[in-house]
Amino acid sequence: MSKGKFITFEGPEGGGKSTHIRRLAERLKALGHEVLLTREPGGTPTGEAIRGILQHEHTGEAICPEAELLLFEASRAQLVRTVILPALQRGVWVLCDRFADSTAAYQGYGRGFSLDTIFALNQHAMGDCVPDLTLLMDIDVHSGRARMAERNLALNTTSDRIEREAVEFHERVRAGFLALSKRWPDRIKVIDVMREKDDVAADIWKHIQGLNPESRSQEPESRIWNLESIR
Ligand code: TMP
Repeated sequence: MSKGKFITFEGPEGGGKSTHIRRLAERLKALGHEVLLTREPGGTPTGEAIRGILQHEHTGEAICPEAELLLFEASRAQLVRTVILPALQRGVWVLCDRFADSTAAYQGYGRGFSLDTIFALNQHAMGDCVPDLTLLMDIDVHSGRARMAERNLALNTTSDRIEREAVEFHERVRAGFLALSKRWPDRIKVIDVMREKDDVAADIWKHIQGLNPESRSQEPESRIWNLESIR
């Protein structure tokens, strides 16, 4: 059996990751693929417990940046080994809401840890489980924050610890994501989300069709593939 595909959704807050990841999952399922939707931090009992600590500081103690970084990596290490790799081996398509690029953008560009440190820790946590494709849902910080505020109002929730960071922090994060997309242009595709949802979904689908189902290690040039062909 060919291995499944590993696709990550990344980007600043308010970029519509959750909407489009669910939409993509439905479209893949309709074609007969087995799909697993997961998220970071989280996706495992350990990871979800870590998510609670990271987002809401319910211990009452401020989390230092070093601990924050390692908690994200710990959640990732557990998710990769217990969920993502076994699923890929079974031929399942794995769609993950945030992954290692978020650590580079938020803890690297945002908090100021060196990228060398981040890349080494990412590598330790994820091994060779590199995404086949990363969709960077790009939105300017002002619009993203406005969308988050609307969502929080609709769901009657409050913003979490990282969402409450200063605008300058979120500007660095967005610039960081865009810098990462220039560093790995074959893997990271920038999706402009300030358009109609259907146009955004069509753009995402175009990149999905560019994946090659036969091998996770082929060169991008050979990644020309028609999804229907592996139904
Ligand atoms: P979200 O999945 O609801 O967007 O929430 C996750 C939050 O955690 C979001 O603010 C981004 C942040 N985050 C990091 O700072 N570093 C990471 O490595 C990951 C995965 C998420």
